[in-house]
Order: sequence, then C-alpha cells, then structure tokens
Amino acid sequence: MTNPQKEIEQLRAQLNEYNRRYYQENDPVISDRQFDELMHRLQELERQYPQYDDPNSPTRRVGSDLTNRFESVRHRYPMMSLSNTYSLEELREFYDRVTAEAPEADFVCELKFDGTAISLTYEHGRLLRAVTRGDGAVGDDVTANVRTIRSVPLVLSGDDYPDYFEMRGEIYMPRAEFDRLNAEKEEIGESPFANPRNAAAGTLKLQNSSVVAARRLDCFLYAMAGDRLPCASHWEALNKAREWGFRISDHMRRCRTWEEIETFIRETDALREGLPYATDGAVVKVNGYDIQKRLGATAKAPRWAVAYKFKAEEALTELLSVEFSVGRTGAVTPVANLTPVLLAGTVVKRASLHNADQIALLDLRIGDHVYVEKGGEIIPKITGVELSMRPEGSRPLEFVRTCPQCGAALERYEGEAAWYCPNSSGCTPQIVGRIVHFISRKAMNIEGIGEETVGLFFEQGLVRDAADLYDLSPERIAALPRLGAKSAANIMASLERSRTVPFARVLYALGIRFVGEATAKILASHFKSLDALRAASEEELAQVEEVGGVIARSVREYFADPVNLRIIDRLRAAGLQFEAEETARLSDSLASLSIVISGTFERHSRDELKQLIELHGGRNLAAVSGNADYLLAGAGVGPAKLAKATKLGVRLLTEEEFERMIGERRDGKPEEAVQPTLF
Ligand code: IVH
Repeated sequence: MTNPQKEIEQLRAQLNEYNRRYYQENDPVISDRQFDELMHRLQELERQYPQYDDPNSPTRRVGSDLTNRFESVRHRYPMMSLSNTYSLEELREFYDRVTAEAPEADFVCELKFDGTAISLTYEHGRLLRAVTRGDGAVGDDVTANVRTIRSVPLVLSGDDYPDYFEMRGEIYMPRAEFDRLNAEKEEIGESPFANPRNAAAGTLKLQNSSVVAARRLDCFLYAMAGDRLPCASHWEALNKAREWGFRISDHMRRCRTWEEIETFIRETDALREGLPYATDGAVVKVNGYDIQKRLGATAKAPRWAVAYKFKAEEALTELLSVEFSVGRTGAVTPVANLTPVLLAGTVVKRASLHNADQIALLDLRIGDHVYVEKGGEIIPKITGVELSMRPEGSRPLEFVRTCPQCGAALERYEGEAAWYCPNSSGCTPQIVGRIVHFISRKAMNIEGIGEETVGLFFEQGLVRDAADLYDLSPERIAALPRLGAKSAANIMASLERSRTVPFARVLYALGIRFVGEATAKILASHFKSLDALRAASEEELAQVEEVGGVIARSVREYFADPVNLRIIDRLRAAGLQFEAEETARLSDSLASLSIVISGTFERHSRDELKQLIELHGGRNLAAVSGNADYLLAGAGVGPAKLAKATKLGVRLLTEEEFERMIGERRDGKPEEAVQPTLF
C-alpha cells in the first residue's frame, strides 16, 4: 500500500473490529500472533507519520507512562445514586407505587455490579472522556486509565449513534485478577486490597496508566444519557449500545409482573457466587423513558429505579482462639480459629482479622459468638459480635506485644496498621521465609527445594541466609533425613543453573520490601547493575518512573544494613548475575553523554527515549545534576528542573534536536527504518 494515511486508517478499523470480536463477542477471528503483527505495523506507521496521530488509536490501549493529573469535570447529567433496600416487601412497595401511577409500566431487572461508577462521553462515535462519579456533580477525568480497559470501545461500530451522548457503567476488577493482585501485594509486604471494589477504585485512580493496563480492569455499561437518544426505552437503549460495541451484561430481563421480578431476584441470588466478578444485588428499573420522566427524581436518586441488595452470606460461630503468624517481612497477622461452620457452600474454620485496629474495633473476646461473612474476597472475615451471647467474665483480646516466634518487642511504622517484628536476622519464620522467597519460581527458581527442605536445612544449622545455599555440599545434603544422593544432585544442578538467572530476578529474589517482580524489572533496567542501584540516592530512586518514595526508602534501608551487604558480597562471589545484560548498540552517537528527560513528547514516549539514549551509547539520568550534559525537554518540563539546568549550565535539547543527534531525522524530515522495533 502506498498511501500511509489510508493504511493507518485501515489498520485501526481492522484492529478495532478484532478487538470488538474478541472482547465483546468472545469470538476471536484471528490469532493473537496475527493481531500482534498488525498492531506492530500500526505502531510503526504511527511513529513514522506522527501527523496522523489519534488519541483513540487502538495502539493507545497499552496505556501511557505519562503521569496523569486528574482534572475535575462537571457532569453534564448528574450521576445519581440509587435507593436501596434489603427487603422484598419494600421492593414490592416500589413496584406497587410505580404501577399505580403508570399501569402500563414494564421493568428491566439487572445485576448490581460491585465496582466503581464511570461515565463515558462519546462524540461522533469516539471516546472523548471518562469521568468518575465524584460527588455526583463533579468527577475526576480518568480517561487515560479507562482507555486501557479493553472492553471499553474507543471507536463505535454502526452509524446510528447520537453525535454526543454518555454511557454510564461500572468498572470492576474480576475476582481472578483481584486474587492475583493481592497475592502479589502480600508477597512483597504491601497490604492487600480489602475487596474487588476497593481494588477497582484504587486502580482507576493510579497515576500511571501502564500500571492500570497491567491490572486488567473490566467494565459493564448499564445506562445511556443524552439529549436526543434514538430510543424510547432503557431496554432498547442497552440493546443498541451493545450493537455499537459496548459491553452490556446478558444477565438482564424485561419483566412486567411482580412474580417475574421476584423470580429474577431469586435466580440472581443463586447465580452470583459463580460469577467471575462481584455483585451486591439486583437493580429494578422502569423501562419506558416517558414513564421514567413522569416519575422524576428526588434530590439524590431517581424514583423510577431501586436497588435490591443481597445480604452477604453470614454465619454465627464461636471464636476459639486467635493465632498470630509472622511473615517473611516480619508483619504479624492475627488469624481467628473458629468452630467450623457452613458458609456459602464451604466449611469455614479460620477467618482473617487483618490487624490490631480491627480487633479493638470489634472488642473481640475469646468465647464470643461472632458473625463471619464472605464478601468478594476468598478468606472470610469477622464482621461483628453477638453481644447477647457473650460469656461472663470475658476480657478484651489483646494483640501480642512481642513476637510470638522470637519474643522481640513488636514495632509499628508510621501510617501502617500492621505490627512488625524487627528482629529480621534472628526470627525463624522471617529467615526461612526469605530463603523460601529467594528460591521461588519467579525468583531464582531453585528446583528440588521447597519450604519443608528449607526448614530442614535451617534446623540442621546448614542455612541462615540465601548465600548459605551456595555453600551446601552434595554430601551434606545427601546425609539429611528424607533426602538422598539423587535429590542432592538435583539441588546442586539447580543451584548451578541459578547462576545464570538474569539480574532483574536476582534483585527480586533479594526480597527487598515493596520490590515486587515488576519493580525489580524496572530498577534493573534503569540502573543496570546492583552497584549502581546501591549507589543511588533516595531522590534518584524516587524519580524513576513507577518508583515512589516508599519503595525508594525501602531500597535505601536495605542497602544501609551491613547484614544485607555481606549476603550480597557472598552471592556475588558465588557467581550470581549482578549486572543487566547489555542491549545491542545502534550507534555511539551519544557515547559518554548523560541526558535527563523531562516533560512529554510528540513522537516518543519517555520509555522509548530512554531506550534510544541507551541504544546510542548514552546514559539516562533521573535528576538534573552536575553530571548531566543535556536536559531533553518536552512539553510541561518541570520548572525546577529547568531552573537547575540553567544554573548548572546543562544544555537544553528539543525532541527534534535529539532525533538529529541519533540520526533518526535529517533536515526536518522523519527518516525511515533507523529505529528498531522497541516493542
Ligand atoms: S443505575 C440513576 N444500574 O450502584 C441510576 N447502577 O448505588 C444510576 N450500579 O452509582 C445507576 N450496577 O455505580 C445502575 N445495573 C446497575 C448498576 C448500578 C451497579 C452502581 C452504580 C451506582 C450505584 C448506586
């Protein structure tokens, strides 16, 4: 094809259609690989011909790494809430009231999704804006984050949609994604999200949309708003919306009689446990727009709709004891042991208590009868105490003051609810936990050793830290109970293989608090070596994208501990990778130049620029200092950075000048094919 604009447009239309088939209809028409190839081609063309840029291009689905500042936007149509009820009688009263006023009314019954509300504005069939509910009148513009949600259409199908309208819906986090994310958070010592709703709302407000993209939010739309809608009823509107490419739940029904509504509710209650997302009720809406208008609204909620909320499944049982367990990071978690009780189809005998604050809040006592609830989360939680059944003479449960494993006095960090055992080098579950983390699959992937073997090694005095693993001899292992010559040989071979595990995974294996798999990758590719990372100041660390103050502090603390430094030295001596592999060079045009990037750019993302600097032999610096040669400044460059650069005599560079330096552009024209594929 000779006309690039045409090809770009065609690719966008094709990819949008494939996305729709994949995400809305669960019916992919091409293989992932073919899809990726087309996507790459489009990315390449867009880079080559920035004049055809379009913020709604399917390439933007990957999310940008720019920092979003959320702007406040006033809703054109206020986002109301719903009146709630937990009782079928009240729901019946709603039905009677509506049908008394409008005997011809029919209803639409839907699921009540448990996420966070969103309003999507479309202009000429393209996503213009995504705004949170906020206070109902004004919300946050979270468009960049919402663009990463693959089921939200960026460009609509068909041609009969209004020029300007809004779709309202719920953004949620699927249960499986919620579990994955929480497991990851606990693994690195961060407190998990309480439920999928908080996880969805929290993710939507993240500053960095590439992190949002990685978390796989999803969205159901449940209402249309606009001045001139091409439909007379809600049912019709949702079906139209589905045609235009919106994700509309199939679990909705048109009902006329009370019996039909009741049946829908009973069926939904039975079905919701098995759904891959959280729901907390059903919504009953008057179908006809004319009747909706007639019924009107109160100050807060429409009078033509009501939410019937399901009671979370609950059981009453006895609290037998509370155990305090210590994790790898030293965090002490209380766990309740209960008299086994049946709840939502499973027998529950343990429940999470989260932290000391929650125990105090509930005024929990051993022997109490407690209510256990299963919300969106897997582990049930204690939500209340049946005071009428409280045994006499019981005393409030006290959170341990000292570590249940090693006896050290517990400490609390500012702003955190958890208590920690500070004795990291002498507390068994912490020591064993760190080694177990070190050998885990995503870290050093040492096969043939599991938690039990590490415990055995520890008991026998063979290992106290990860570096001790590399001093093990096959004879010593073979002599241990339950292990033999064959296991010993396997373990030795696996340890040998681990010497080639790339630096990013070694860094993750070290178990620095808050440095999960993703952060380790970022740090490794930014600093390139453990020595450079160790030399970085807190300020330099915090300036790396996606690395905030908390992680920066934690990394500094880790390297400030001589015990850790000794382990690192021994691991290095054992031959582990402490440097990132060199990426192939494209040229030496930036050799020995240090460049700081600030602001946003027209033709490259910041990550691309970073990679380009390195590919051409330069060094990317996080902060303006005397070491910097250039400040590559884009739109919105930080004023403090500019002032500092001027003061220190650091030269300024535009995107265009930079492109010339690396030979990507000559005399103002973009040049073809110098650039490698960066994705
Ligand atoms: S309709 C004017 N339909 O529930 C009516 N809301 O408690 C606007 N929600 O803020 C809402 N599922 O975030 C509607 N099928 C559904 C819903 C739903 C969940 C949420 C929504 C709203 C809240 C009100």
